[in-house]
Amino acid sequence: MPTESQSPYLPFGENNNADWYGKDILSVKQFNRADLEYIFGVAHEMRGMVERVGTFDLLKGKILANLFYEPSTRTASSFMAAMQRLGGSVIAINEVKYSSVSKGESLPDTIRTLESYTDVIVLRHPEVGSAAIAAKAAKKPVINAGDGVGEHPTQALLDLFTIFEELGTGKVDGLTITLLGDLKYGRTVHSLARLLTLFDVQLNYVSPDILPMPKEVMDEVAAKNIPQAEYDSLDKVLPNTDVLYVTRVQKERFENPAEYDKVKGAFVVDPEIMKAAKKEMIVMHPMPRVGEISPEFDDDPRAAYFRQMEYGLYVRMALLAMVLGKA
Ligand code: NCD
Repeated sequence: MPTESQSPYLPFGENNNADWYGKDILSVKQFNRADLEYIFGVAHEMRGMVERVGTFDLLKGKILANLFYEPSTRTASSFMAAMQRLGGSVIAINEVKYSSVSKGESLPDTIRTLESYTDVIVLRHPEVGSAAIAAKAAKKPVINAGDGVGEHPTQALLDLFTIFEELGTGKVDGLTITLLGDLKYGRTVHSLARLLTLFDVQLNYVSPDILPMPKEVMDEVAAKNIPQAEYDSLDKVLPNTDVLYVTRVQKERFENPAEYDKVKGAFVVDPEIMKAAKKEMIVMHPMPRVGEISPEFDDDPRAAYFRQMEYGLYVRMALLAMVLGKA
């Protein structure tokens, strides 16, 4: 294991501080490999700082607006913790029903209001493209924390940071990554599959037949010449998998509840199934889980999903420091 003073991410690529000051983070398509090395280098340093001193004053005096139109535990609280650990403060609007949104205020007007009080806006919203609409309305940076079934770029960044930290830097090339579950509505896998096209990986998709990876994402992956294959069961792919990324069936996106009932228990990862997997691999999940990974697996060293949450804090600290100009 590298120590914090010898960051495994050094030396950074050519184009290291890719000048993120004041930029929006809307899609993983904004990032190249050099950007990732830079972000993960900063995140790695943030981890060391949190372990050593907990909270420090890098963003003292800065204010974050955390605007969530959909439920969230991890994303909302890790952005809040990230800002507070950097010495900044947060205006949290988690329950938009108590804000003027419930009076019919438009997203651009809500965004203009919040940016007049704050320095950066984190937005989660049920509609695809909402973060881009907000970014157009705002002069301050907007960070997409999930736009409907579209993207969840900060989750994909923390997912990739998890893979690097858990399996060792430089080991993403050559890995076989299997995405399991609701690949149709899961925005985390849409962003992660796109981000992984920056590396030489094999992508496997395992889902119920009504929840496949969208054609749009598969076309983008194919255009980057990344091998990908679809399966309806884990049996064939599990023994070769280095990263098993499990997702929840996204109940709230279904128009017909009967369809949800048909597929909700389709895949369950448990200790018995995991006997067929490698000893050195990891199981990830963006969480929340609703039955797709049995708690009996939690004590297995390959279960990385709780560590994954913690990596999210460091990545979000890095992103906030970058867009606010202090990284
Ligand atoms: C995910 C999301 O909101 O897309 N959660 C998260 O941010 N960690 C995954 C999900 O809700 O299933």
